[in-house]
Amino acid sequence: MRGFRSLKLSLRFVVPLVVALGLLAYAVVPLVDKLTLRWSVRDMDARSQLISSTLKDPLLELLPLGDRQKINRLLQRALQDERLLAVGFCNNEKELVYRTRAFPADINCSSAMDNTSKSLHVINLPQGPVHVAINAINQDGTQIGSLVLVHDMSYIVRRSADTRKYVILLFIVLGVVVSMITVFVAHLSWQGWMEGVRAMLRGEGIIKPFTQPAVASELQPLVGDLKTLLRSMDAERRLADDSTITWSPDTLRRLLHKQLTGEKVIVVSNREPYIHSKVDGTIQVHRPASGLVTAVEPVMRACSGTWIAHGSGTADRETVDEHDRVMVPPQKPEYNLRRIWMTKEEEKGYYYGFANEGLWPLCHNAHVRPVFRTSDWEQYVKINQRFADAVVAEADSDNPVVLVQDYHFALLPGMVRNVLPKATIITFWHIPWPNPESFGICPWREILLKGMLGSTILGFHTPYHCKNFLETVDRYLETRIEHESSTISRRGQLTMVESYPISIQWPPPWLGKTPPVEQVREEIMVSLGLPLDHLLGVGVDRMDYTKGIPERFTAVERMLELHPELVGRFTFVQIAAPSRSALEEYQALETRVRTMAERINARFTSNGYPPIILKSEHHEPEEVNRYFRAAQVCMVTSLHDGMNLVAKEFVASRDDERGVLILSQFTGAAHELHEALVVNPYHVEQTAEALYQALFMPEYEQQERMRSMRALVRDFNVYRWAGRMLLDAARVRQREKLATRIANN
Ligand code: F6P
Repeated sequence: MRGFRSLKLSLRFVVPLVVALGLLAYAVVPLVDKLTLRWSVRDMDARSQLISSTLKDPLLELLPLGDRQKINRLLQRALQDERLLAVGFCNNEKELVYRTRAFPADINCSSAMDNTSKSLHVINLPQGPVHVAINAINQDGTQIGSLVLVHDMSYIVRRSADTRKYVILLFIVLGVVVSMITVFVAHLSWQGWMEGVRAMLRGEGIIKPFTQPAVASELQPLVGDLKTLLRSMDAERRLADDSTITWSPDTLRRLLHKQLTGEKVIVVSNREPYIHSKVDGTIQVHRPASGLVTAVEPVMRACSGTWIAHGSGTADRETVDEHDRVMVPPQKPEYNLRRIWMTKEEEKGYYYGFANEGLWPLCHNAHVRPVFRTSDWEQYVKINQRFADAVVAEADSDNPVVLVQDYHFALLPGMVRNVLPKATIITFWHIPWPNPESFGICPWREILLKGMLGSTILGFHTPYHCKNFLETVDRYLETRIEHESSTISRRGQLTMVESYPISIQWPPPWLGKTPPVEQVREEIMVSLGLPLDHLLGVGVDRMDYTKGIPERFTAVERMLELHPELVGRFTFVQIAAPSRSALEEYQALETRVRTMAERINARFTSNGYPPIILKSEHHEPEEVNRYFRAAQVCMVTSLHDGMNLVAKEFVASRDDERGVLILSQFTGAAHELHEALVVNPYHVEQTAEALYQALFMPEYEQQERMRSMRALVRDFNVYRWAGRMLLDAARVRQREKLATRIANN
């Protein structure tokens, strides 16, 4: 390849040189000769004229005397002009009557006087070229003869040779200079083209006013066309992917092997998928209440690899090997869980402090103020570095595929990128992203953003969160943002910011394994001590102030006020897994929710049937699924939520195509599940009315709505979520490879 490049370079040099010399030989030198001759002849004519007029008067005096000696002497004296070779005088009979000594024998009067043609001016004699001028000598208007002046022209030949030499020299120098300039310009423009193409491949092009254009101006029209082409190809491919692929664990596996050449997947999250705890002296394992775990675990089982997470269980250390790894799921081990340890102080600063008292309220509009402490930030940086080191240690190549989860690890992508520049880092932000003003509250906003831009792909649930993120970066960092392709370029690192609405596994894990809805319903009603014809609503959340649990209870209360006939006929079961209980806000919420439930129950319990049953304890997913199947209605009333997978889990659980979902408009799920009864949870009457409507919705309408929602969750399942991110990452990788290949050419 190098040989080819130097050959190309030499050609660029030699071709202009050869062209210049050819031009010289065939056009320039003859032209120079011709011009020199013409100028010299003109000069000789003028000189001859001058000499003739000088000789005229003495000649007119001497001619009548016929003094041959004197006349010849006069003519001889004229030869003092060094270039004048000979002078002769012809009478009107064309006889050479007087002449100097060396008058050439080849020149005679008749030929000289007869021929008026210009060609006669120059005659080639054996001793060299001469210029012959005939000037009439008149007396009183009558010609009495002609002077013949013969000038030596050999100096012109010499001068012409000299001129030719200098012209050739000049042309050679010019040729070399032009060639060098050509090579230089070609090199520069090649570099420019390459930069341009590279910039295009990176998706760059829209230039901020304060930056230099990434693409040379002459390339701009081409850039536009190429980018449109690339975009439409991308869009077509994405469309084809989306419409033709049925997403399943198998599809995901194949995709990983084909598109990303089978690299090992490394997942990083704070929460671990399986927690080992000591209960009454025995080790038990349970699955946490976490949308993140619900979504990522099936992906991990499909892809295999290593999941790096905080080992937070009381028996976690007892269950790992010497590398802090344990194979999970416990019943059917499929991938490695690598546990990271932290002290109570580190957990307090990194998890409770910076992540959950700072970033969590910062990103959710739930009217809880974020708190930022330097000590928390220091722990956050330290723990991010610890997890990043673990990623590097777990990677078995220099380009692993790393799936980074959530706001606990905003710095990690940048940290991993520093050590593994070729890594494919897919970061997914599971919670909303606020507007630039809100995010600006964070004292370490720039560092967080820079860390996140270490990612290849940065995913959010909705386009709205992506837009907020792009605007935030635009506000606080100097980067190049291309809104059309949703990419950010910072210091040569390209990050694609896209929305990937998260989902759940399909088919659901318990499909065909659970008893029919009627049977489950009966069991649940019995366990709750409620009659079989009782109306049942359900809510499943972590005990978190973003989930709108008090608002939900207020809606139940209002409905009972508006429809007193339902008192004693309707009960709402709230499953609220304890969460982040070390924090004051969460403790206060727990107290508030409990107090509310007690107050409403005191007000509306009838026949021993309370309107609210609060279950503030952890439930395993299988148990939650049973409640979903038993209820007539599921309420999701988050005040602000990235997606809220509970909504999709409820839909997935209803293979009987019955049941109604009430869904807050402030969840990501509301952008997809349009057949839910979408409410504003802050609006008490609206939510209460939706609850009433749901409880009495005709079966056919329930079926219509549920069927449509189930089709969406089936098609847009979690394998598609992960698959789309991997596909996009593969595309970014391909672009990078192409850019590198072009750069090496
Ligand atoms: O889905 C958002 C999320 O914060 C996840 O990141 C997390 O796993 C889940 O909610 C539960 O929170 P935590 O892990 O703090 O209990």
